[in-house]
Amino acid sequence: MPTIRFVREGKDVKCSIGANLRDVALQEGIELYGLKGTLGNCGGCGQCITCFVSIEGSNSPEPLSGLTEVERAKLRRRPKHWRLSCQTLVKSSVIVVTRPQVSFQNSRKFIAAACEAELPE
Ligand code: FES
Repeated sequence: MPTIRFVREGKDVKCSIGANLRDVALQEGIELYGLKGTLGNCGGCGQCITCFVSIEGSNSPEPLSGLTEVERAKLRRRPKHWRLSCQTLVKSSVIVVTRPQVSFQNSRKFIAAACEAELPE
């Protein structure tokens, strides 16, 4: 079972292979949305472009499904390691930061520590 390491929340969550990243986060009570997405999001249809996560590390070269057409169109001006969680399926363990557009204190330090700690396969 893959593990999703949510850096901002300091939480590791196991999920099944092929699980939708947004669904797993919401089931775990993890806040995915900034203000805009909290006020109104598309419910996972790939239309609101508010469910960003940044991918910070993995044990695998391809821990997630490939970019969807929606992501190709909508993430052109975003960092290359950002995904839309509703469009992303988990194939193997991965380290993510939710709401990467919203900074948090000592984020670099927490990301580095999350990447250094052993990540279950
Ligand atoms: S929830 Fe709207 S784009 Fe992901």
